[in-house]
Formats: sequence, C-alpha cells, structure tokens
Amino acid sequence: MDIKLDYSLTSEEFSELVAAVEWKEYTKEQVQKALDNSMYLVKATADGKLAGMGRVVGDYSIVCMLSDVCVKPEFQGKGIGLEIIKELKKLIENGVKEGEKMQVELTPTAGKEGFYAKAGYKYNPDKITGMYLWIKK
Ligand SMILES: CC(C)(COP(=O)(O)OP(=O)(O)OC[C@H]1O[C@@H](n2cnc3c(N)ncnc32)[C@H](O)[C@@H]1OP(=O)(O)O)[C@@H](O)C(=O)NCCC(=O)NCCS
Repeated sequence: MDIKLDYSLTSEEFSELVAAVEWKEYTKEQVQKALDNSMYLVKATADGKLAGMGRVVGDYSIVCMLSDVCVKPEFQGKGIGLEIIKELKKLIENGVKEGEKMQVELTPTAGKEGFYAKAGYKYNPDKITGMYLWIKK
C-alpha cells in the first residue's frame, strides 16, 4: 500500500473523514474556518484514496493541541495514524526556536492512550486527565 502525506486537506475531505468515523459533522463554512485557522494540517492517502487526517490548533508560541486525528475504518491498523501524528509532531518541532519550549496537549478518546504514547505523548492519569508532550529546544 502506497501511503502518502501532504498538507492539502479540503473541507470536503475533512467532512468525508469525520463521517467515516461517525463523529459530529459541521457546516461547510465552519469546517473551512477551522481549517483556515489551524496551525498545521496533515492528510494521508493510501494508493491515492483519502485515508486519514490530523491537525494542530494553537497560539504558535506556548501551547497547541492535536485535534481530529482519524483514519477511515478500512485503512486502520496499517500504521497511517502513527505516520500522521509523527508528521504533526515534526511540524510543531520545526516551529519551535532554540531556547523555546511549547506544550502539546490532546484529549484521547478512551482506550486510545497507547496509540498516542507510540509518538511520545505522556499519560499520567493520577495527575492529569489528558495527554501532553513538551517540545523543547
Ligand atoms: C486512533 C486511530 C487514529 C489510529 O490510527 P491507525 O492508523 O489505525 O493506527 P496505526 O495503525 O498507525 O497504529 C499505530 C500503532 O498504535 C497502536 N495502536 C493503535 N490503536 C491503539 C490503541 N487504541 N491502543 C493502543 N495502541 C494502539 C497500533 O497497535 C500500532 O502499534 P505498532 O506500531 O506497534 O504496530 C484510528 O484507529 C481511528 O481513526 N480511530 C477512530 C477515530 C479516533 O478515535 N481517533 C482518535 C481520537 S483521540
């Protein structure tokens, strides 16, 4: 399977992926605004077919969060989700300058902690309910 990542996610593709994983849907205008205001967007295709996405929202300085990470059910379990969150991490790292640090947060759906842990995200349920990662340079 030929898996490719790029940054060209459209509102139609966002809505198609959201529907595929049965998440709440939004108006086209809302989705476009969300994409326009995202720090980073990643789209994955598998053999040319739309397979998954992820995005990062935040202040470009101190804090950001992973959002809308999903892979269509027929493409799950093939390493695509991990590629998406690793690429998002790389994009965040590229934006952090020497001497700076940025906190990346995410709220995993129950049972998905192990997936995010594969990309280095920390889970400390005694202290914090979400997951996080500090990017420091
Ligand atoms: C969660 C999701 C994005 C994972 O994507 P995926 O492409 O199926 O995952 P991958 O194949 O890249 O898995 C990467 C690794 O994480 C592991 N993993 C995947 N889901 C996991 C889970 N729930 N718990 C623990 N490990 C998990 C895989 O076993 C794999 O491990 P390996 O590298 O040792 O083989 C996908 O299942 C999905 O879209 N689910 C529905 C939407 C959703 O819940 N999104 C997350 C919102 S927080």
